[in-house]
Amino acid sequence: MCGIFGYVGNKTNAATIVFEGLKRLEYRGYDSWGIAVVPTASEKSKVKSEKLINTIVVKKKTGKIGNANVNDMPSSSFAFGHTRWATHGGVTQTNAHPHLDCTGRIALIHNGIFENYEGIKKTLVKKGHRFTSETDTEVAVHLIEEYRKTMALAKAVQKAFNDMAGLNAIIVIDSDRNQLIAARNGSPLVIGFGHQENFLASDAAALLPHTKQVHFLEDDEMTIVGHKGIMIFDAKTGTKIAPKVQKLTWSTRQAEKGTYPYFMLKEIHEQPDIIADISETMISPAKRMTEVIRKSQGTYLVGCGTAGYACMAGSYLFSKVAKRHVNWAVGSEFGYQLNFLTKKSLVMALSQSGETIDILESVKKAKNNGASIVALVNVLGSSLYRMADHKTLIGAGPEKAVASTKAFTAKIAYLVLLAYGLAGKTKEGQTVLMHAVSSGKKVLSSLSLARIQKLASRLKNTEHIFVVGRGISYPASLETALKIKEISYIHAEGFAAGELKHGVIALVEKDTPCIVFAPNDEAYGANLAGAMEMKARGGFIVGISHKPHEVFDYYIPVDDACEATIIPNVIVGQLLAYYLAIEKGLDPDMPRNLAKSVTVK
Ligand code: M6R
Repeated sequence: MCGIFGYVGNKTNAATIVFEGLKRLEYRGYDSWGIAVVPTASEKSKVKSEKLINTIVVKKKTGKIGNANVNDMPSSSFAFGHTRWATHGGVTQTNAHPHLDCTGRIALIHNGIFENYEGIKKTLVKKGHRFTSETDTEVAVHLIEEYRKTMALAKAVQKAFNDMAGLNAIIVIDSDRNQLIAARNGSPLVIGFGHQENFLASDAAALLPHTKQVHFLEDDEMTIVGHKGIMIFDAKTGTKIAPKVQKLTWSTRQAEKGTYPYFMLKEIHEQPDIIADISETMISPAKRMTEVIRKSQGTYLVGCGTAGYACMAGSYLFSKVAKRHVNWAVGSEFGYQLNFLTKKSLVMALSQSGETIDILESVKKAKNNGASIVALVNVLGSSLYRMADHKTLIGAGPEKAVASTKAFTAKIAYLVLLAYGLAGKTKEGQTVLMHAVSSGKKVLSSLSLARIQKLASRLKNTEHIFVVGRGISYPASLETALKIKEISYIHAEGFAAGELKHGVIALVEKDTPCIVFAPNDEAYGANLAGAMEMKARGGFIVGISHKPHEVFDYYIPVDDACEATIIPNVIVGQLLAYYLAIEKGLDPDMPRNLAKSVTVK
């Protein structure tokens, strides 16, 4: 959720380095931002004011970074910054991070929720600490200030961090020394190793222009990052830990927009190549994973949001192709229904970021029950990736738009390979995926894009859109509706087409837009029947199908790709959502209220 970026090194433009780092983290979603620098010695000597000596200079703003700059900040070789997604306290400049202690010599940024902050705040107020914000975060910096009175800074940070209940990551700086002191439990933090400079970030992708050598901090690890060296130790015991340096595989170019106006459009267009790549290169990992599934007694798919709909689609694929019963659950609910798990159970957790707290918590509970964990994630070194017994990177490359697109279809492609692999028909699975590639490319042709954009222009002022489908088109409907809601703010609902008569159809009136998935599968006739029922009530029927039909008022062709048709079908849904946002003048990459990785409950 919140983005964190810290720099310490031999360059003197630390504020700009951090500012650019925060811009690379914008995709995570935020409502305010802030940067703190410790001015260089020469900068301090230029300033007559006593006030600047030994103090930290802070700049904070509400809203997006947009055209802002940090030219007004002093030269510095040591700075950190934060993009805030408000939890405790409204979106105000004062509530934005960094927060300072009473003396202005210690600054802190924080990701997570400091659950027991209220009691600690009362004690600190009694001791004379003055608070300026409504945040839980500010309590942490005053707590460190209090402990600092009797111990060294690192010890004070360690003690304060261990007092903080909840899942938190903090970074602390002090005006007397050029060191970033950080600790994490739950919320991600990555150390980047440079030459005569080092970095800290909440997300490895933000480090790409500087370094690919990283250490992902584990839960309850603490670090002191200086420009020449890094120390890592256990935040509970103080025992030193050797860094586990890993090399990032993503390129800087992959994490940039290139010629596309938005990341979302770029990521939608990347899908055919990603699917082709998965079909060619993922056979061995898929084979290993099918063996793990085969040996398990009870396999469960878990994911949140879009990843949850990929899980749901997976349950249809495993049933139809592999004749195997695989349950699925949304991450936030799985924790309440996993008492049946045993040592023989297998939980397959799907997540783009690998940091979604609801997934991490469910997986921890599943592990406690003895279940094995398979992680299907997009981010190397993410918490889920590290926690899993068996792991696969889905290889979709950095996904920066808040709305997940290519990570969804990459997961589906991998699930297709697994389902066909379990059925002993890997080659057929690859062929089916290649059909999805060519069908997807056709959906992305200029003619097809124009058709979808025209539809968006027609629907842009509508209040409600219904999306229906049966079988695997049910998760396609849910995913399409989610995309529309997220980025166009139009109320869209996905339904199992068979449920229409059980209540939903009461909502359909003259001109209500009803999107119907009708691919060439066993549900084709039933999907058309649903379309007819809605049309009879005045619905405006948008048919997404391999062939036109008279019931469709608007037709979007999608070539049949057998069991993988959900891939091009959902690409249509993604494009419709994208163009609806564009038609409404909205930024599809950064929808309101949403964050890319949901690291708080
Ligand atoms: O990183 P994850 O795949 O675990 O994220 C899960 C959901 O938060 C995510 O899919 C969310 O629903 C997206 N905004 C969907 O576009």
